[in-house]
Amino acid sequence: MAEYIDTGYEPRASDLICEFYVKPAKGISVEEAANHIAAESSIGTWTEIRMSKKIKEMKARVFEIDGNWIKIAYPSILFEPGNMPQILSSIAGNIFGMKIVEKLRLEDVRWPKDIMKSFKGPRFGVNGVRSLIKVKNRPLIGTIVKPKIGLNEGKHAKVAYEAWCGGVDIVKDDENLTNQSFNHFKKRVIMTLKTREKAEKETGERKMYMPNVSAEVHEMEKRAKFVKESGGEYIMVDIITVGWAGLQSIRNLNEELGMVIHAHRAGHAAFTRGMHGISMIVVADIARLIGVDQIHVGTVVGKMVGKQDEVVRIREEIEERFVDEEKSMHRLAEYWGNIKPVFAVCSGGIHPGLVSKLIEIMGNDIIIQAGGGIHGHPLGTKAGAKAMRQAVDAVMNNIPLKEYAKEHKELGVALNKWGFI
Ligand code: 3PG
Ligand code: 3PG
Ligand code: MG
Repeated sequence: MAEYIDTGYEPRASDLICEFYVKPAKGISVEEAANHIAAESSIGTWTEIRMSKKIKEMKARVFEIDGNWIKIAYPSILFEPGNMPQILSSIAGNIFGMKIVEKLRLEDVRWPKDIMKSFKGPRFGVNGVRSLIKVKNRPLIGTIVKPKIGLNEGKHAKVAYEAWCGGVDIVKDDENLTNQSFNHFKKRVIMTLKTREKAEKETGERKMYMPNVSAEVHEMEKRAKFVKESGGEYIMVDIITVGWAGLQSIRNLNEELGMVIHAHRAGHAAFTRGMHGISMIVVADIARLIGVDQIHVGTVVGKMVGKQDEVVRIREEIEERFVDEEKSMHRLAEYWGNIKPVFAVCSGGIHPGLVSKLIEIMGNDIIIQAGGGIHGHPLGTKAGAKAMRQAVDAVMNNIPLKEYAKEHKELGVALNKWGFI
């Protein structure tokens, strides 16, 4: 009984296609597991159920099996447009817990046009962010206020000010800083936007602050509105812990607010690391569809896991630079249509000595963020920010970091402390 397997099936343009890696449980073949995956994620269950011909036509079809890799086509009628939780409850739901699979990973998704159109996509995207910050070509530079938790509102604002004055474009809250007893959200936003204004006047450059609004949805909406009323342009959302519904709600509200949404992915590795779960490519795609403007993609050279080919591919996927149909099911230039490219954020363990390699791997259209690699500078935050900006300037001018450091003290101190590659 392999009624969900149809290797002769030619997927329709309107089908949603998923690519899975399947490691069946002992004694089960890939075909048998694939059949059950297609059943459970569409109309079926563990045993046969009587159903009309019309319902049978709504079934998912496994149309390709290549070793442990399978592709399944889902008729789009199975899905509620604009409802990411519903879509994921089908294609990334019960199937992960079935006993017949030892490991199952949703590797890639090709979204049909009708579903793509039902989501808003980024409001700003790469170009929108660049024109807001008024930086054309070089990577943007960001920092995360450190210590990540514990500073009061005034100290937070001061650290941010020093970082901006040193040369950073964007300052963000850390993923676990929201509204705590020692640092209240509203007070922090007001105080930090005030030092932002001062830094803009002193440097003559645009400076941005990304407050972390992550919370229960209604609270998050109130916080986003508060940032807007206070003169901010950005909000940051911890997209995994807040959930896709939460992100969709914020994106919907953003029609009215018109802010830049920065997506932190804390928690993603609970299911993107290893061969059971959902790939980071799919996570980044979903975030792009719903409409974040910037998302953490990994660094290759920093403190977090993420191999070069994966991180580069995520960047390509969300910024749509390359057309490589070999690797992706949908990297056709026209695939994303009006859905804007998203800025890739490289964050986690970055310091000036890694900047050259990072830009070599990832290109100029990235946001380079460093927390420890700025605030841990022996001469303090401002010098740390200067060192980071100097590193980026060196790369943009094709000058090796070590050489540039001879004339730029802060960079020299940073390279001495952390080394360089
Ligand atoms: C982030 O939230 O992106 C970080 O906290 C990165 O911090 P680090 O540069 O100190 O690793
Ligand atoms: C951190 O908070 O240390 C980092 O932001 C983690 O970075 P990543 O999610 O981009 O790997
Ligand atoms: Mg962090």
